[in-house]
Amino acid sequence: MVEQASKKKGRILSGMRPTGPLHLGHLVGALGNWAKLQDEYECYYTIVDYHALMSEYRQPEIIDQATSDVVLDWLACGLDPQGSAIFRQSDVPAHAELHLILSCIVPIGWLERVPTYKEQLQQLKHKEINTYAFLGYPCLQAADILIYKANAVPVGEDQASHLELTREIARRFNSLFGHVFPEPDALILKEQQGSRLLGLDRRKMSKSYDNTIDLKEDPQTMRKKVLSMITDPQRRTKKDPGRPDFCNVATFYRLFAPDRYEKLEVAANCSGAGWGCVECKTHMYEGLAEYLQPIQEKRRKLAQSPERVEEILQDGAAKAAPVAGQTLEEVRQKCNLKGKRTL
Ligand code: TRP
Ligand code: SF4
Repeated sequence: MVEQASKKKGRILSGMRPTGPLHLGHLVGALGNWAKLQDEYECYYTIVDYHALMSEYRQPEIIDQATSDVVLDWLACGLDPQGSAIFRQSDVPAHAELHLILSCIVPIGWLERVPTYKEQLQQLKHKEINTYAFLGYPCLQAADILIYKANAVPVGEDQASHLELTREIARRFNSLFGHVFPEPDALILKEQQGSRLLGLDRRKMSKSYDNTIDLKEDPQTMRKKVLSMITDPQRRTKKDPGRPDFCNVATFYRLFAPDRYEKLEVAANCSGAGWGCVECKTHMYEGLAEYLQPIQEKRRKLAQSPERVEEILQDGAAKAAPVAGQTLEEVRQKCNLKGKRTL
């Protein structure tokens, strides 16, 4: 069982789409926080394969591999399958059923107004996601959260509008049918000033921009990628002073190699033009590689037993399903759905 709620501050649910291996942006924006929250909360972490299918329906075969990749990355970063429920969304059918029920009460206008909707339609034009399901993406996300009556949802800033919608859906359900759902809080890490991690090209780090460093990146490729990072454009030559508060390489130092940042006096060497960017990046690469080494080591070991990954997912589903099933029962009663269940 997931540890007793009584000992914990409340329930957490969060999820990620299985579309490929995770990168440093995931670690800084969410995953690092998820691992810490395990001590204080009863945690449910789900790999949302239905959400992946919405954009990858032309190549569903990638979802399996991506699911294993995500589980391995999660475990390597400290998610604990003993304490937390780590599971695949489609292994717990109650998510899909609650999604259908919620879709009865969610006005289309609410979905059309979600800012990520039009953005994604634009950005992923080639994937033809102008579908019925994709419009309902945040409604399924709300079901993921509400089916566990989660109190808090740790996510990146980009998910804020989905969380707001989840709260609105919870309110609407409760006022129509009677109180079932708590309104979940978004736990959004406010990235400290000057510590906002960007991709290699200074855009948001994202697989679709091809500007990531993956958690499982091999050292050679990682080195090349670090050396290709865009720095402060004001440093055209080695003699031009740079701005360590602006440069993304300095942000990497502060997040992954703070000791080196101090010891090598990176800030002074940058603003005083004491060294060149290549030297600066080379030391940063070494710090980053050192930081990732234990994570990658753990991942490599786990990857040697793929059957263990599936076992963890099945254990996780066995923990999550009874909790989800109980909420669904309550929901069906409130909505006066009388069908006898044949589970
Ligand atoms: N939309 C989220 C993302 O793209 C993934 C997600 C699906 C999720 N269901 C969720 C996140 C429930 C938190 C809670 O990152
Ligand atoms: Fe960035 Fe380092 Fe170059 Fe300064 S010296 S601009 S911190 S890479």
